[in-house]
Amino acid sequence: MYRSRIKNETLWSKVVSPQQAAMLIRDGMVVGMSGFTRAGEAKAVPMALADRALAGEPLGITLITGASLGNDLDKTLAEAKVTRRRMPFQADPTLRKEINAGNVMFVDQHLSETVELLRSGQLGPLDVAIVEAVAITENGGIIPTTSVGNSATFAMLAEKVIVEINITMGEEMEGLHDIYIPTRRPYREPIPVVDTRSRVGLPYIPVDPSRIAAIVITDKKDSTAKIEPPDHETKAIANHLIGFLDNEVKRGRLGLNLAPLQAGIGSIANAVLHGFGDSHFHDLTMYSEVLQDSTFDLFDCGKLTYASGSSITLSADKHESVLRNINKYKSRLILRPQEISNHPEVIRRLGLIAINTALEADIYGNVNSTHVMGSQMMNGIGGSGDFARNAYLSVFVTKSVAKGGRISSIVPMVTHVDHCEHDVDIIVTEQGLADLRNLAPRERAKVVIANCVHPSYRDEIADYVAEATRTVGGQTPHMLDKAFFLHQRLRDQGSMQPVAATQAAE
Ligand code: COA
Repeated sequence: MYRSRIKNETLWSKVVSPQQAAMLIRDGMVVGMSGFTRAGEAKAVPMALADRALAGEPLGITLITGASLGNDLDKTLAEAKVTRRRMPFQADPTLRKEINAGNVMFVDQHLSETVELLRSGQLGPLDVAIVEAVAITENGGIIPTTSVGNSATFAMLAEKVIVEINITMGEEMEGLHDIYIPTRRPYREPIPVVDTRSRVGLPYIPVDPSRIAAIVITDKKDSTAKIEPPDHETKAIANHLIGFLDNEVKRGRLGLNLAPLQAGIGSIANAVLHGFGDSHFHDLTMYSEVLQDSTFDLFDCGKLTYASGSSITLSADKHESVLRNINKYKSRLILRPQEISNHPEVIRRLGLIAINTALEADIYGNVNSTHVMGSQMMNGIGGSGDFARNAYLSVFVTKSVAKGGRISSIVPMVTHVDHCEHDVDIIVTEQGLADLRNLAPRERAKVVIANCVHPSYRDEIADYVAEATRTVGGQTPHMLDKAFFLHQRLRDQGSMQPVAATQAAE
């Protein structure tokens, strides 16, 4: 039955078991694997690798993917000690622990950049690519599944290519993908994407069939995303942002179709997108990297006309209905390599409204998306930097407090900077929205404190800025001995709240 999925008959003899395919991978190799935000990852061969390592074989690799992996693969590979080095993104609690313990070297990269580094030889040679596919065409073209990620470049560069044909993915997915690889630098042609709808490449990854070393058949599904439904606070964040955009429309800076939208991973960004469903904006488009439930809800309610991304990651509720009815959406959907979905040139050209989530933001507009208390890696910068620096409007959302109020997400100085003050236009919490455009740091601090900080932290942070302005002054007033007073309190007392408030809460 699977033979119908391998249209090039010379490749039929390459079908092997996952264990046999995994034998192409040896200790110390660099492996590029499909998978982006838990969608479309190779599923069977990595498990066979983990089994070998668990049976005692020394087997450690550098694992490069598009982004995070589903089916607990990052967990399994980390537990089996297969993952020695990892890039460019992850979101798994077990791997996170190994990274923060210093057992796995994690290279946290802008998602648009990994393949540029690979192509120019800066990451060394790629030994093996493992790519999940719906089918292989007559000429050896690999048709990806629910994500494109970095798969195209992996398959084109790797010494050996393993294809995992996933028979749970419908063949009607053919035609969804648009594979375009930028020409070589320094004489690169402009990337011809001039609209979210632009189709500029091939519907498959072109690979010389002789480079396909093994084909594995799998029937394991993508794992589904756990997306928290919108709550009181995320709804408030959405309302503040929609109110702000409404005002931009009234001032003639945007039309009712706004600008192409990008929304990052996570529950908050997903809830914000949901908010557009109840707005009076219409004919919206998305130029994003991950397309979540909200994208399909916006299609279904008629608000969204077109969406471009690099992966489709859905909750259990949506998974079957979207993938089984992919034909319903196909004419309005496109999946691109992540270097194109996240390409600075295209993002700048299309003028996106980019909505990403901060772990913490500071009063001057710097954003930390990755490091808890400056040291502990959460997930990685992902595509947020690609979008934030180049968007028409760069928006960061966060709840004003975390961990039941013990942490203020707005602080005097962030403990790690992913997005500097120059890349951040708007900060939104459930308390309100700070429009930082055209404001000097002293003005920004006032707006952020008044509009975004939770009332239980507002006075203390305002006092900090007042004292810093009085005693130190400067363009961006800070007292270096006090800038982290909230973080120090959290470290020493388990809460950023003053001792009296913490005791009262207990
Ligand atoms: N300090 C410590 N922990 C914090 C925190 C802070 N200031 N703010 C939030 N957290 C914790 C939350 O309590 C939660 O912890 P839990 O998992 O134990 O419940 C966790 O961080 C996630 O926060 P949550 O509020 O649920 O938001 P989220 O699911 O939207 O994730 C990020 C937020 C920042 C972790 C996530 O968006 C991310 O990894 N971003 C970077 C990558 C990115 O932006 N990609 C965008 C392009 S796809």
